[in-house]
Amino acid sequence: MAFDVNKIREDFPILKRKVNGYPLVYFDNAATSQKPSKVIDSIVDYYSNYNSNIHRGVHSISQEATDAYEDARKKIQEHFNVKDSNEIILTSGTTHSINLVANGFTNLLSKDDEILISELEHHSNIVPWQMMCEKNGAKIKVIPLTSKGELNYDSFLNLLSKKTKLVFVNHVSNALGTINPIKSIISKAHEFGAAVLIDGAQASSHIKADLQELNVDFYTTSAHKLCGPTGIGMLFGKKEWLNKMPPYQGGGEMISEVTFEKTTYAGLPHKFEAGTPNIVGAIGFGMALDYLNNLGFDSIEFYETELLNYATNKLKEIPGFKMYGEAKHKTSVISFNIGELHSYDIGTILDKFGIAVRTGQHCAQPVMDYFGISGTVRASFSFYNTKEEIDYFCKSLERAVAMLS
Ligand code: ALA
Repeated sequence: MAFDVNKIREDFPILKRKVNGYPLVYFDNAATSQKPSKVIDSIVDYYSNYNSNIHRGVHSISQEATDAYEDARKKIQEHFNVKDSNEIILTSGTTHSINLVANGFTNLLSKDDEILISELEHHSNIVPWQMMCEKNGAKIKVIPLTSKGELNYDSFLNLLSKKTKLVFVNHVSNALGTINPIKSIISKAHEFGAAVLIDGAQASSHIKADLQELNVDFYTTSAHKLCGPTGIGMLFGKKEWLNKMPPYQGGGEMISEVTFEKTTYAGLPHKFEAGTPNIVGAIGFGMALDYLNNLGFDSIEFYETELLNYATNKLKEIPGFKMYGEAKHKTSVISFNIGELHSYDIGTILDKFGIAVRTGQHCAQPVMDYFGISGTVRASFSFYNTKEEIDYFCKSLERAVAMLS
């Protein structure tokens, strides 16, 4: 079935606006996605009609809010094919999720243990582990990159040993778009008894991950990358791990009993959801999953690949264009530089033409260090972008280059 992008664009109010006098061309989807009216309406509906705290009230609208929040958890469970909804912890996003797991492992690891992190990681999948290692003395080993921006799989195999307790890899690189072979990484790590955490933040808007099939120990994502609101995300953790980990934060709703002598904790998932959660965020997250599933992930992937190939071929014609990240399997992200021009300067001029891209290190300094560059221009496409926008982008890029040269 043909992908009716013009009809889809009608669902996104922001795509009608102008920036600096030009129609907005939004190619910064890897930073955050735009929101369809259904998601925006679900937020307005909550605040207009049943705003209330959850799990705490006997009154009707508290029950309605509780049902909507727990319904969202169920949608997330179904979407990611998770066995038990108690294995879904609602967090503020991927960074929160990873910090939660790092905190949980602080007392489970010691100085003889090793953890593997890929060189392709976002800072949020590096820094929490460094902070953890400072406390328990575990050692970080790095899975290196190849010049195509893929993980060096042979090095990964060589780094694995009985000392390896945890492996962290992103499903998709935010800086380059590389799709990592997570299924085989997970099964190899398991052969050595190591647990695996996959950062799915950049994957979830493109790929529907089946967490039971992957047999992953932890998987995390942020709703705002997949058309949902900011400030909400999820951590999937296998029950056996989540039960071993201590709570991340103390507070209301995460307890079973509190006395001044001792507190006992609630069961999953509440043990990890202290305080009033982001109720409306969860509702918007669920609505975003409904929206994307209604479009169909196969159609989304097919169309975005078409955009990626179209843009890559056009950009390659621009003199001085150099792309970083030429993985065989990648999502619709193009990270590039033109000659010696600074990415920031290019991004600033593109903005004058109404085009939004991200420039700089993309919170992935080790990737930039690997290529010996200070940053890139990153154009990241979504299913609501068009080939006409790519044509305009390439023309504007040529104008920017002429102005800067
Ligand atoms: N992680 C986001 C990005 O890649 C913010 O831009």
